[in-house]
Amino acid sequence: MIVTTTERPDGRLVARARRLAAEFSCRYAERRRDTLAGMRRKYADAADGVLVVGNEGLRFVADGAPPLFYHPSMALIRIKRLREGGGDALVEAAGAKEGDRVLDCTAGLGSDSLVLSYAVGERGRVTALEASPLLHAIVREGLSEYETELPDVNVAMRRIETVCADHFSYLSALPDNSVDIVYFDPMFTIPVLSSSSLEPLRAHAKDEPLTEEAVREARRAARKRVVLKEHRGSGQFERLGFRRVRHSGSAVAYGVIDIHDDND
Ligand SMILES: C[S@@+](CC[C@H](N)C(=O)[O-])C[C@H]1O[C@@H](n2cnc3c(N)ncnc32)[C@H](O)[C@@H]1O
Repeated sequence: MIVTTTERPDGRLVARARRLAAEFSCRYAERRRDTLAGMRRKYADAADGVLVVGNEGLRFVADGAPPLFYHPSMALIRIKRLREGGGDALVEAAGAKEGDRVLDCTAGLGSDSLVLSYAVGERGRVTALEASPLLHAIVREGLSEYETELPDVNVAMRRIETVCADHFSYLSALPDNSVDIVYFDPMFTIPVLSSSSLEPLRAHAKDEPLTEEAVREARRAARKRVVLKEHRGSGQFERLGFRRVRHSGSAVAYGVIDIHDDND
């Protein structure tokens, strides 16, 4: 991968692109008048993709895959529904309340983190873990600068703490009962074909089944609940000891482990 800018960048964009190249220990290439396709031919280390830094944020471009960039996508619609007094399947499954501390163990493009951040409000906190350094950087930068027309959504984005980490290592280092909710949304063992918002991240996502060890650490770290989103037919809820709470006809289901039940 190489890092470059959009055409005719100002000094701020160049500095940002250089900083990201240093973060990824890869080449910063001046854009000049080159096309992205031209740059991919020119630099051997650009064969697997180019990270482009522009005024609109970061965009990762590679052959044979849709461009990858931050967008709140369905999170905006879900938050608008919450603002109007409606419900959200994840918020309900998690039992997320104002002031809760949430650990999202599979940040992906950060949609669920954003909905949870809105739900737990300014006294709450969401930490979003992502194993892929590229996805982490795109979401970290997006959450820090993307502007919607809704100021409270922008504030909910800025409140999310993003961490590039494997969730098992991160959970193992957490003290007992240190967060309210731990959430897992691993890549489904049975892919949902209609989930087009996940298509651009597929090439970069860590795609391994959730482990019993990670769930054990999550139970230890959570005060209230551990939540898993999975395909309803995957068998993962039964394998990992989650109680199903909802699927309402859709392919997506939620399972929970209630920590109080656990300790009683
Ligand atoms: C299905 S996506 C999550 C989508 C996300 N809930 C959203 O709303 O955009 C799963 C993400 O979890 C990440 N992931 C998988 N295993 C992980 C692990 N062990 N630690 C941290 N992240 C992981 C993948 O790289 C991928 O980006």
